[in-house]
Amino acid sequence: MSQETQRFTITAALPYTNGPIHIGHLAGVYVPADIYARYQRLLGNDVAFICGSDEHGVPITIKAKNEGVSPQDIVDKYHAIIKKSFEDFGITFDNYSRTTAKIHHDTAQEFFKTLYDKNEFVEEVTEQLFDEEANQFLADRFVTGTCPKCGNEEAYGDQCESCGSSLNATDLINPKSAITGNVPTLKKTKHWFLPLNKHEQFLKDWILKGHKKDWKPNVYGQVKSWIDDGLRPRAVTRDLDWGIPVPVPGGEGKVLYVWFDAPIGYISATKEWAAREGKNWEDYWKDENTKLVHFIGKDNIVFHCIIFPSMLKAEGSFILPDNVPANEFLNLEGNKLSTSKNWAVWLPDYLEDFPNQQDVLRYALTANAPETKDNDFTWKDFQARNNNELVAIFGNFINRVVVLTNKYYDGVVPEASDFSEVDKETLAAVKAYPSVIESSIERYRFREASQELMNLARLGNKYLADEEPWKLVKTDEARTKTIMFVALQIASALATLSEPFLPFTSEKLRNILMLSSEEVNMQWRDIATKDILIASGHQIGKGELLFSKIEDDTIQKQLDKLEANKKANEAAKKQAEPQKATIDFEDFTKLDLRVGTILEAEKMPKTKKLLVLKVDTGIDVRTIVSGIAESFTPEEVVGKQVTVLVNLAPRALRGVESQGMILMTESMEGKLVFVKPDTTVKNGLQIS
Ligand code: MF3
Ligand code: ZN
Repeated sequence: MSQETQRFTITAALPYTNGPIHIGHLAGVYVPADIYARYQRLLGNDVAFICGSDEHGVPITIKAKNEGVSPQDIVDKYHAIIKKSFEDFGITFDNYSRTTAKIHHDTAQEFFKTLYDKNEFVEEVTEQLFDEEANQFLADRFVTGTCPKCGNEEAYGDQCESCGSSLNATDLINPKSAITGNVPTLKKTKHWFLPLNKHEQFLKDWILKGHKKDWKPNVYGQVKSWIDDGLRPRAVTRDLDWGIPVPVPGGEGKVLYVWFDAPIGYISATKEWAAREGKNWEDYWKDENTKLVHFIGKDNIVFHCIIFPSMLKAEGSFILPDNVPANEFLNLEGNKLSTSKNWAVWLPDYLEDFPNQQDVLRYALTANAPETKDNDFTWKDFQARNNNELVAIFGNFINRVVVLTNKYYDGVVPEASDFSEVDKETLAAVKAYPSVIESSIERYRFREASQELMNLARLGNKYLADEEPWKLVKTDEARTKTIMFVALQIASALATLSEPFLPFTSEKLRNILMLSSEEVNMQWRDIATKDILIASGHQIGKGELLFSKIEDDTIQKQLDKLEANKKANEAAKKQAEPQKATIDFEDFTKLDLRVGTILEAEKMPKTKKLLVLKVDTGIDVRTIVSGIAESFTPEEVVGKQVTVLVNLAPRALRGVESQGMILMTESMEGKLVFVKPDTTVKNGLQIS
């Protein structure tokens, strides 16, 4: 079938370069974008798959300040880490660039200049928030305050993460500087504004009246409500020193707003790639026949559906996005993913714990992708997807086919004789799969697509289970050969159709089947049109397990690690408490503190926290109930020397009288630890 080649420019949101990336980024943006790009290439389409590091913006400056290094140091470090994660997970960007690249600075400045020359900006002196102590204007993440729309008290100067509104810093109620905590003053400064109000009609025609009703409902709905609310001019320059200098008179000391420069990064990264590959970048951005698709997370919708299109429209020579398939958010074990709380699975950590198991994560994230609503990643689900689907269905089918072919025919694909009705139906069903999966992908339903792929493996498994070649091999040689021939066709179809979803597995499978270069280059639709995917007489290789079972203790380790990360993070962030009111020496001498040794320990029945201890205080042996059971087992504490407040009034805990208190503090990992003499001393000695 000869199909017209379609040109695609596929972009994935440029990640901020102030930390590594985690499963939420992968699930929301990069895996679906990669599936889509790989799929389009398999259709024979012309694809530019573009991404890069978003290296300007306030959070990077803040991080640099906190760590006492330069912003450039921060972005160099994380650009390398992020780029490597993408390579490790098989994300096939044609170019992964960065916004500190010269080509990007030039492109963004030129874009700004063009709009400036076309009078597309409004130039205005306004009062902006200013931090007197830091001697700095406060924009974007440099200022927090209450969101005027939803009342969230931790909204930022550019956006409220609670309700998703895009804000101007001066909209915030009770603004506070993120640098000093001071209440900002107002100071006059000149800036350039993009008058979004001027583009309102265009946006209405293009999105609301245009054909964009086929956009995902979450995207269309958000955009519609913004437009319905009325659009206002938005500043596209800032008084900051980290960013791209404003290239027009009066712009000295000012930089472009990060959300003005970042999406232009898609264009500069395309230019960089085209120059390298000897292509014409304008084909990918200025030809009406090119389809531009932006993969993003839902917090980026306004920028990609309203602001960037208005910029492109104002410039005049660019195409507009065909679709913006934004995803919702992924949660982790029931809680919001959070960098600051370290509630995340970081990609470099995953690979350390699950080496060579990128496809398992890609699959689990796709099968459970947050496409239409926020979704939860759980390690249990990850384990189940692996054990019950990848191992038990996909891996099991391939393994049977390869082992039996080697066992019966020394790895040579046998001749088929007469096909039974079941064989014909099965082969016809295989041929239908490309278009089944296609129809899901074309609607950006990657979860559904991944399940259809698994259904093909299921079909193979069921076929073998029903036909039982291992029984027939003793009685009917010809029939067995036909069955194995059919099964090998299914395995070959899986090798190609799994490629967008499970690229590493697909490659392994091609190697196992020893597909020729022509067969390796099999395209998506060949599966639907070719009668023979792997020919009789073809030699295949030896088996190799594609997936292996993940045990419960492996999963438990991940759950423990998450808890430990979170605790360590909370402990590290703990601020020293303010000093208590002054006491007299008299007051101090009232405390009778002694060294003692724990002689016995047992858990208080039906409690999580309490241990009942017998302690030798040097004066006597007494019972003390202590809330340390979450940090210690009874065995661990027996024999330990500790500090005891012996003259604390006794009190009953769960019916057991506690006669004193053991002094504790907390370790860096958030675990309770004893406060005690740094060498063994005699029990009963006083501490003073
Ligand atoms: N860095 C932004 C984020 O992580 C996304 C930028 S997308 C681009 O939310 F369009 F600006 F490139
Ligand atoms: Zn809000």
